[in-house]
Amino acid sequence: ERGNYRHFMEKEIHDQPDACQHTLSAYLDPVSGKATAPGGVDFAKVDRIQIIACGTAFYAGLISRYLFERLARIPVDVEVASEFRYREPPVTPGTLAIVVSQSGETADTLAALRWCKGQGLQTAAVVNVHESTMAREADVLFPTHAGPEIGVASTKAFTSQVAALTALAIAAGAARGMFDATEEARLSRLLLEAPRLIAQSIAVEDAIRALAPDLAKARDVLYFGRGAMSALALEGALKLKEISYIHAEGYAAGELKHGPIALIDEATPVIVIAPSDALYEKTMSNMSEVMARGGPIILFTDAEGAENAPAGVKVIVVPTCDPLVAPLVFSAPIQLLAYHVAVQKGADVDQPRNLAKSVTVE
Ligand code: F6R
Repeated sequence: ERGNYRHFMEKEIHDQPDACQHTLSAYLDPVSGKATAPGGVDFAKVDRIQIIACGTAFYAGLISRYLFERLARIPVDVEVASEFRYREPPVTPGTLAIVVSQSGETADTLAALRWCKGQGLQTAAVVNVHESTMAREADVLFPTHAGPEIGVASTKAFTSQVAALTALAIAAGAARGMFDATEEARLSRLLLEAPRLIAQSIAVEDAIRALAPDLAKARDVLYFGRGAMSALALEGALKLKEISYIHAEGYAAGELKHGPIALIDEATPVIVIAPSDALYEKTMSNMSEVMARGGPIILFTDAEGAENAPAGVKVIVVPTCDPLVAPLVFSAPIQLLAYHVAVQKGADVDQPRNLAKSVTVE
C-alpha cells in the first residue's frame, strides 16, 4: 500500500528507519551489545571476503568494504557479478563469498554464487526475499528485513543491505579479536542509533525539494565523495540516471583532477557528499577547484561541515553522526534528491523506462 505517498519510491525512502531497525535486530542484541553473524559463520576462520552483486547492491558491497577492512582487518574484494562470473578468478580456500541481492534472483549474481559453490567456497547471501533462489542455494542467509520493495529504483533494500553488512563487520571484528566486548557493544549501540538518525535525515526533505527545479534543468550532474562516500556518490548518480534520465556520474573525489574536472562548467551541477571526517579537508580542496571553474556545488554535510564550507556553496545539513553510520545517514537525502528531480521532470518514478525490478536474464 502506498498510503498517503505519491509514489512507492517515496514511501520506501520514508520506510527506511523501520527497514533498518528490523534488519539490525537480526544481527545485534540491544541489551548485551553483541553482534552475531547468522548461520554460524566463523569470521575468525575467514581470511578474505569476495562480495559479488549488481547495480545498487554492488554499491552496498563497496561501502561495506571500508567497514570490514577497518573493523575486522579482512581483505575484501567487491566485483559486479557479470564480470566476476566470466573472469573466473583464482580463489583461496579461506574466502567467504558474499552475494548481495534484493530479489535473490538476479541472473548474473546467481550464476556467480553457483560458481563460488562449485569452487568449494563457503557462500553467504545478503538477500531481502528470503524464499528466493539465492537464499535457498547459499550456505548461509544473511537476511535483510526491508519488506517488499515495489519501486524499481532500490532504496530501503539498499540501506538494509548496508545495515546488515555493517553489523556483520562488527561481528567479524569481534570474532577476530580486533576489539573487546566493551568496544563491540559501543559499536553495536552506535549502529542501533542509525534508524533514528535516518529519520532525522529524511526530515531535510523540504530543503532537498527546493533544489529540484534547478537540477531538473541540468543535462549532466557529477557526484563526488571520499571513502565510503565515494560509493554513495556512485549510488547517487545511478539513482538520478534511473528515474530522472539525467546523465550523472559518480567519482571518488580524488579522481577529479584525473579527468572529470574537464567537464566542470556553469551548467554542470556538482553534488559533494562530505561528512566532517578525516577526509573533509581534502574534499573541500577539490571543491575549490570546482568553484574556480564556475561549477555550482551542492554539499551534503553535517553541521560542522556546513560551518567550514566555502561561501557560495548550497549546503544540505544532514544529522551529525559517527563515520560508522554515515553511509546510512547520508543515503536518504541522496535518494530524495533523485526522487524530487524526477518528480519535477514528471517522470514515472516507480516504473522508469527500460528498467525491470528483477533482472533474471543476462
Ligand atoms: C537500482 C536497482 C538495480 C538493482 C540491481 C540488482 O536502483 O534497483 O541496480 O540493484 O538490478 O538487483 P538485486 O538486488 O535484486 O540483485
